[in-house]
Formats: sequence, structure tokens, C-alpha cells
Amino acid sequence: MKKVVAFDIYGTLIDTQAVLKCLAELVGDKAPAISRSWRQKQLEYSFRRGLMRDYCDFSVCTRQAFIFACGEHAVAASEEMIELAMQAYSELDAFADVPAGLGALHEMGLHLYAFSNGSRASVERLLERAGIRHHFEALVSVEEVRSFKPDPEVYVHLQRRCGVAAAQLCLVSSNPFDVLGAVHCGLRSVWLRRDPASQFDPWDLQPDLTLDDFGEVARRLPEIFRQPMT
Ligand code: 2OP
Repeated sequence: MKKVVAFDIYGTLIDTQAVLKCLAELVGDKAPAISRSWRQKQLEYSFRRGLMRDYCDFSVCTRQAFIFACGEHAVAASEEMIELAMQAYSELDAFADVPAGLGALHEMGLHLYAFSNGSRASVERLLERAGIRHHFEALVSVEEVRSFKPDPEVYVHLQRRCGVAAAQLCLVSSNPFDVLGAVHCGLRSVWLRRDPASQFDPWDLQPDLTLDDFGEVARRLPEIFRQPMT
């Protein structure tokens, strides 16, 4: 029976904090604070637009969030700064543990999909540049249904694109909002706690598994697919 593992991209496979080096050249010691605000506001904009049914390319959320984050820290974002920051965001690297982890899952005969708020074109470029595109059977972008995570519509679309029942589809994400969205739609889930200090939301819904190490995903996934669906 086909078993699918779908991976969130930004923050799970691709290290969004890697943009810090470029930011430090642009805004100096404000880089860590602006980087945090940037990511938070980028996601907030996607949540708003999903609720408003006002879809736009995720890169627009990223760009507008960068401008807001700079303003929040009294930095006037020039057009040149914005372009440099967006360029850096489009060239992010994969976490060091990702290539080996994906290879191990491949060897287990699992079908791997990339699943992102990013547009197909931007995620294709990002994964190619990061050297991990070949691990994936397909990319699924929320742009295909013109909404954003955690809208249930995007998880239903993911399942349809994977062509399997919910019990055969497991989402791996470092973003609790994404894991909650998947669990809410009946998918299996792994929360990859990339930041040991991060906590999962105190909701009634919880991931099937919480892992701190990407290498653990390949070792622990079989048990997830064996669990009876609750
Ligand atoms: C994604 O890649 C934003 O991490 C989220 O869809």
C-alpha cells in the first residue's frame, strides 16, 4: 500500500534563519530581531489572507513582512535592501541533516512530496538550488487552491494530489500551525522540533510524534503508519 510523507518546506527542510547573514550586512545588530519579526509577520499575513480569501503569491507576504519588520525596528527599507533580502530568501539552504534523512526515507520505499505555501515555481527553484529536489515525487503548492495553511482546503488538496487515504499520508513540519492543520484534517503528523526551546500549542489536537532530530524521522515513521487512526 502506498505510503506518503509530505514535508513542509520553510523552517522544516529549508533553514529560514540562514537569511541572518545577509540581514546582518543590511541592518547590523538588529538582524536577529528583524529576522524573527519578518518570519512571524510573513506567516500572519498568510493567515489573514487565507481568512480573507484574498490569495497572493507567498513571496508578496514575505516582501511586505520584511518591510513591516524593518519599520518595527526603525529601519527604513530601501528598494535595494528589499531586493537583497528577497534574493537571500530565495537562495536559502537546506538544513544539514536533510539530504541524508530524505535519502533514508527513499530507501524505505516511501513516497515523498514537498508541500508548501510557496508557489510551485519558487519552491522548485529553492529545492533545486538546495540540491534536494530529486528526492520528491511531486511538489504541492497551496497556490493550486489559492489559499494558505492551515486552511483545511489545502490539506484536502494535498491528500487528493497524493492519491491516498488520510491514514496513508503523514505530514512532517516544524510549524505547529501546519501540524495542527493536518491533524484537524485527519492526516498523520510529525512535529519536527527544530528549536528545542519551542513549544507546541496547548490545543486538544496533538502530533502523532514529536522529534528533535530529522534523522529520527526515518527510524520512527514506520510505527506511525502502524498506529490505528484515532
Ligand atoms: C511552508 O513552507 C510557510 O513553512 C511554511 O509552507
